[in-house]
Amino acid sequence: MGVWTRVPRGMRDRLTGVLPEWWWSWLHQLREIDVDREWQGGAILRAAHPSLAAPTTGLAALRAAELRVHSQNGEDGILAYLLDRIGPTTRDVVEFGIGDGTECCAANLVLTFGWSAHLLEANADDARAAAAFYAERAGDRVHVDHTAVEPDTVDALLSQHVSPVFDLLSLDIDGNDYWVLEALGAVRPRVIVVEYNASFGPERSVTIPYTRGFDRYAAHASGFYHGASVTALARLGQRKGYVLAGCDSRGTNAFLVDAGAASSAGIEAVSPAEAFAPLFERAHLSVEEQFRQIAHLPLAEV
Ligand SMILES: C[S@@+](CC[C@H](N)C(=O)[O-])C[C@H]1O[C@@H](n2cnc3c(N)ncnc32)[C@H](O)[C@@H]1O
Repeated sequence: MGVWTRVPRGMRDRLTGVLPEWWWSWLHQLREIDVDREWQGGAILRAAHPSLAAPTTGLAALRAAELRVHSQNGEDGILAYLLDRIGPTTRDVVEFGIGDGTECCAANLVLTFGWSAHLLEANADDARAAAAFYAERAGDRVHVDHTAVEPDTVDALLSQHVSPVFDLLSLDIDGNDYWVLEALGAVRPRVIVVEYNASFGPERSVTIPYTRGFDRYAAHASGFYHGASVTALARLGQRKGYVLAGCDSRGTNAFLVDAGAASSAGIEAVSPAEAFAPLFERAHLSVEEQFRQIAHLPLAEV
């Protein structure tokens, strides 16, 4: 990245305009190799030499826990950190939007820690692949449903499968995430990890309006128009009795913890502006440049 940022700004803008969006995302994803090495090496050294570690709290402690085993970014480490702090109870996870199941937030808890999971995926091929993946590795601890979760179905889908209070909900459906979370009422996860849309910036409190069966690439070719801002999700969480414990450093997920559990564990609320990170994969554009591409599309202020 150092080389790229030394290219004069005007030339960078011209190149950005000529090359397709996917090329830039792919280029930025190459940086994952270095990030993963840092996470892994850092975690091993901290575990081997705990006396060296300066005390950290709040967002710094959450980010120091980042580690990727099966998650898209450092969510595996952050979730292990938060769940260990509050203490697990049911040891089960529900996840909406798992792709083929090999890269998602539930995978590490299921495969490393032996948790049970209920996984929902709207794409038939992906749901089938995920069912086969977990049948082989986790047997009947994991149940995969080929279903599109919507605000009017979320309660019925969940109350059949989990106890009224359970440990973790992960939500990454690239669209109506806010509306599904808002509608959830029949059961209560103790921790929620939900994807936010960093292209909306740290200040706006917005979500896409609800459209059944929303498809982000059909809505806008950039793929930047989906989901909700971190502030919208933090406010929704607050209304439902959760604190924002932080966001991962790659601008993908917000971590909400039940306020009672957070207070007992000494986990403090972080402001959305402090927690916000720009999305790593869109780093060739500033956050405001990303927003300008989709600024003509409707948003709901929440
Ligand atoms: C970005 S991918 C999730 C990737 C995965 N969570 C990860 O961390 O890499 C979003 C997934 O959500 C699924 N999806 C979209 N809308 C959905 C819905 N309403 N219910 C369930 N799954 C949905 C898509 O088919 C897609 O596989």
